Amino acid sequence: MTQDMQFAVGVIGVGNMGSALVRGIIDQGTESAKSVIICDLDQGRVDLLCDDLGVVDGGNAVHVASSSDLVILAAKPQNLTALLDEISSSISANQTIMSIVAGVTTESIEERLGGSPSVIRVMPNLPALVGEGISVFCGGSHAAELDFERVKAVLGAVGVCFKGPEELMDPVTALSGTGPAYVFHTMEAMIQSGVEMGMPSEMAEQLVLQTVLGAAILAMESDLDPTALREAVTSRGGTTDAAISHLEKNHYTRLVVEAILAAMDRSRDLGR
Ligand SMILES: NC(=O)c1ccc[n+]([C@@H]2O[C@H](COP(=O)([O-])OP(=O)(O)OC[C@H]3O[C@@H](n4cnc5c(N)ncnc54)[C@H](OP(=O)(O)O)[C@@H]3O)[C@@H](O)[C@H]2O)c1
Repeated sequence: MTQDMQFAVGVIGVGNMGSALVRGIIDQGTESAKSVIICDLDQGRVDLLCDDLGVVDGGNAVHVASSSDLVILAAKPQNLTALLDEISSSISANQTIMSIVAGVTTESIEERLGGSPSVIRVMPNLPALVGEGISVFCGGSHAAELDFERVKAVLGAVGVCFKGPEELMDPVTALSGTGPAYVFHTMEAMIQSGVEMGMPSEMAEQLVLQTVLGAAILAMESDLDPTALREAVTSRGGTTDAAISHLEKNHYTRLVVEAILAAMDRSRDLGR
C-alpha cells in the first residue's frame, strides 16, 4: 500500500477467513497494526490477534464500522442480516463496505444497509494467510474508483486479485474460495496411500506437500497447460498411466466437477 493510500481497516468477524486477512495484511507489512481494528462475538479470537499482532480491539461491530474507512464483513452468511441491521446507521457514503460472505449479493447488502453504501463483494481464499491468496471482486451500484483502490490495496497485500462479473461470484466461491479444501483433501488421500504402502506418515506428508508445491510452481511457470504437462509425463503402460487410467475408469474428473458444482449450488442457497 502506498503512503497516500493509508486508511483505517475494520474487520467484523475474525474467524478462519477474517483472521487470515488480518494476519496477511499485517505480516506482509502493508498496513500498520494500529490502523486495523477488529471485533468478533468470540472475544478469544480478538484477544489472540491483538496479542499476536498488536491490532486494535474495536469492542463491537458498531464501533468498528464507525471507525473504519474500509469495513470488512467476515461473518457467516447466516449472521449477515443481523450484522447489517446492527451497523446500518453507522455507515456513511465515504466508507467502503467489503463483504467476503459467500452467496450474498451486493444488491441485497445495499438494500439492507439503506442509503447509497459503497459495497464491494469479494471472494478471497485461505492462502491469503501466507500472502498467496487469490481473490475476485465486484462492485455494487454505488462503488467508485476509491472503493476499488482500497479493496485492491488490501487484497493485493495478501495475494493476487482481480475484478470479475458478479454473476461469476458463486462459481468463484466454489472453485477458488473453497478450493484449498479440495487440495487438502487430495493431500490426505495421497498421504494415506503412502502409509498403506508402508511409509511413516511424516515421510508421506513431506513427499506429498513438496510434490503439490512443486507441481503448482511448475504449472505456473511452464508454457504448457496442466493437460499438456500431465500428458508429457504419461507414457503408455507406465506408472502414471496406471494411476490416471484407474482414476478415469472410475469417472474421477466427472466426480470432481460435480463436487464443485455442488459447492456452487450451496453458495447460491446461502445467499437466499
Ligand atoms: N473459510 C474460508 O476459507 C472462506 C473463504 C472465502 C470466504 N469465506 C467467507 O468468509 C466468511 C467467514 O467464514 P469463516 O470460515 O471465517 O467463518 P467463521 O470461522 O465462523 O468466522 C466468522 C466469525 O464471525 C463472528 N461473527 C458473527 N456475527 C458477528 C457479529 N455480528 N459481530 C462480530 N463477529 C461476528 C463469528 O462469531 P461466532 O462463531 O461466535 O458466531 C465467528 O467468529 C463467510 O461468510 C464465508 O462465506 C470463507
